[in-house]
This record gives sequence, C-alpha cells and structure tokens, in this order.
Amino acid sequence: MELKIGNFTCSELAAKYGTPLYVYDEALMRHIIRLYKNNLVSDKFETLVLFASKAFACMAMYKLVHEEGIGSDVVSGGELYAALKYQEPEKIFFHGNNKTMQEIEMGINAGVKFVCDNLGEAEMLRDASERLKKKVDVLFRLNVGVEAHTHKFIVTAHVDSKFGMLMSSDDLKKSLEIVEKSEYLNLAGFHSHIGSQIFDPSGFYAAIDKIVEFLKGFDKELILNIGGGYGVKYTDEDKPIPYDEISKMLIKHTEDALEKNNVKIKALVIEPGRSIVGEAGYTLYTVGNTKKTPNRQYYFIDGGMADNIRPALYQAKYDAVIANKMDAPKTETVTLAGKCCESGDLIIEDIKMAKAERGDIVCVFTTGAYGYSMSSHYNKAQTPAVVFVNGDKDRLVIKRESYEDLYRNDCE
Ligand code: LLP
Repeated sequence: MELKIGNFTCSELAAKYGTPLYVYDEALMRHIIRLYKNNLVSDKFETLVLFASKAFACMAMYKLVHEEGIGSDVVSGGELYAALKYQEPEKIFFHGNNKTMQEIEMGINAGVKFVCDNLGEAEMLRDASERLKKKVDVLFRLNVGVEAHTHKFIVTAHVDSKFGMLMSSDDLKKSLEIVEKSEYLNLAGFHSHIGSQIFDPSGFYAAIDKIVEFLKGFDKELILNIGGGYGVKYTDEDKPIPYDEISKMLIKHTEDALEKNNVKIKALVIEPGRSIVGEAGYTLYTVGNTKKTPNRQYYFIDGGMADNIRPALYQAKYDAVIANKMDAPKTETVTLAGKCCESGDLIIEDIKMAKAERGDIVCVFTTGAYGYSMSSHYNKAQTPAVVFVNGDKDRLVIKRESYEDLYRNDCE
C-alpha cells in the first residue's frame, strides 16, 4: 500500500516532479482557513483572519488566501510585494521591528495597515506620511508580558523581547502622542503576539484581558489584533486545539472581557500562520545510501537542513514514513539524515520505519510551515519544487531551482 496525498501516491508525485519535493494539500488549507473564518464571528464587532505569510510565502499562496477572503500579515518588502499582487491593501497588516524607510514608503503608497513596533518607527511613519501626504492606519504592537510555554527560541513576549512596547512605557506614550499630533496617522488599534506552537489558550486569554483593560483609556473603537501561535500536530505528543474551537474560544473570551470592562472594539483580528499550512504540507525525499554505525542506522535522503532547518535550529520533532511501503512492518530504528556536509543535518533521530532501500520515497509530515520559507542554499542546494494537490488535480506552484538559478545574481 502507498501513502496518498489527495488522489496521488507519493511515488507518482515524486516521479512526476522529482525530489526533494514540497507537496501541499490545497483542499486541507482551504478547509482550515474556512474553519477559522466561519467561526470567528460576532455580532458585537467585525472580525478578520490574516494568514501570517512568513510561514509559507509564495504567489500561489497569496492568491489562495485572497480567494478565501482572508487577509495577510507581511513582515518585509518581499512579502508585501507578493501580497499586493492579489490582496486588497486594507486587508494587509505590515509587521516587523525594523522596517526600512523604503519599506515604509512602499506600504504607505499601497495603503496597507502598519503594525508599528517602536518609537523610532512611529517617527518614521510620521515623516513618511507627511512627505507622501497619505493617511496611514497604525496599530501598535504591545508587549503584554505574557509568556507562552513553548520553545524558548520562539517566545516573543517576555519583557526584554525585541518585539513591541510595554504598555506602561514612555516609548508607547510618546508614540501615541506622535499619532495624536499627526495630520496623517490614524490610531487604528493594538496588537499582541505571544508566541508560537501554543496548545494552552490561557496565554491568549491573559493577553486579551490586558489589552481590553488598556483600551478603557481610549474613547474610540479600535482593532484588537491578538496575533497567531495556534499549535499543530507534528508528532503524537502534540495535542492542538481544533481550529474552529480556537476561533470560538477567542470570540467568547473577547466578548466577555469587553462586557466586563464596558469597552467596545471595532474588530478582532487573528494571524495564524503555522496552523493554516503546517499539517497540509509534506516533504518527499528519495532514499539514497544507507549506513550502519556501531549505534545507529542511517537512511540518507536527497534533501535535509537546506529545505528544513527546523530540526537543527529548534530541535523540532517530525514524523515520517516510507511512503511506498505503508504495509511493511516498522522493524528498523533509523536516523533520517540529509546530504549537507554537517553532522547536525538530521531530520529525524531514532524513528521506527520500514526497511528501506535506495529509491524508496520518504514522506515527512507537517512540514508546511517554516520549512520552505526558511530554506537556504547551503552547500548550493537547489530549493525544492512545490506542488499543490487538490483531490485529483495537481499543479506546480514553484519550480525547482536550476543550477543556473543558483548563480543568477553572481557577478564575475
Ligand atoms: N503574527 C506575528 C506577529 C508573528 O510574529 C507570527 C510568527 C505569527 C503571527 C504567526 O505565528 P504562527 O501562527 O505561525 O505560530 N520559525 C519559527 C516560528 C517563528 C514564528 C514567528 N512569528 C518556527 O519554525 O517554529
């Protein structure tokens, strides 16, 4: 028996497109977006789901996001450039702690919303909007001091975080004054993002409570953007909250907090990234050589840390199978190692798998978020192709890089 993605076996996809290959189940991504969107509804305020596009940015994805009627969170001129090709600017939220003046002008000219991180950026927004004579909606990123229990590299809300401003800080006070005095800047709301791969909703609730209380000090209805961070299942240890439940829980908690504090908001915005694309993404590799060392057995695959840096960077855990041998017993304990010249290039250590030989296809699950988007050219690896599968339809959405592509910007 063979593993299928949509109606295609992994071997068929590998034969048609080559490996390493990123495959996304388009139907699943659309389904997850609808779970978020259709349940993030309230009769007390507007709602908007944004896709945090850093998780997986490509033209086909921005197009899909637009077709599903949600917005985009972008963090660079590069992401903004692609989002603007498909997306209404008012549904684009421009994040980042160190936007350049060129990026700021690009965003202002396009009419996107800014999530301003710091006092320096507030000054830049003031100056640029005056120069361009354009109105700009500005949200401020707050550091609400809530620390989600997650891997320390991806926690973003401790007091010394590089992101946002503390609610009690002088910098926030001065930034708000800048907006107040400016002819072009409009205070649109506040934002918080407490971390990533979170399973316990209490961190989100604490953040909502803190911001809603803070909103009492403003006499206008503002946007409350509560960020992303909703966890996904990489291995059986992970127990994510169902995505429709997350939306409902956030709505309920926000409505209650607003009522308790007698505050009204204009809109509630959420920014899932990982959970929209993570579980919909698979990486297919071909097994090359295998090796036994005194304490280990290796299956060498034709990709590795260049297409998925997460195991090396975060000790991230994944699950995988030999996709063309789904019936075979998992008799082997193996380490799946990539082909980079680096001993840390291990995608999964000590996993039970079927006995494999050269030419077999390995499928690693849940690689859709921060895999392709964090890929590198280390060892001059060619960035893999990406395919979207939707039932019986398959389409190439990113071509595999050629050797020429690898050197296209080199000047001799
Ligand atoms: N909004 C903001 C402001 C963010 O900084 C992030 C992620 C998100 C939304 C989306 O969070 P998500 O729903 O994807 O958890 N490279 C790391 C993850 C870094 C997350 C950065 N910010 C990883 O591979 O685990």
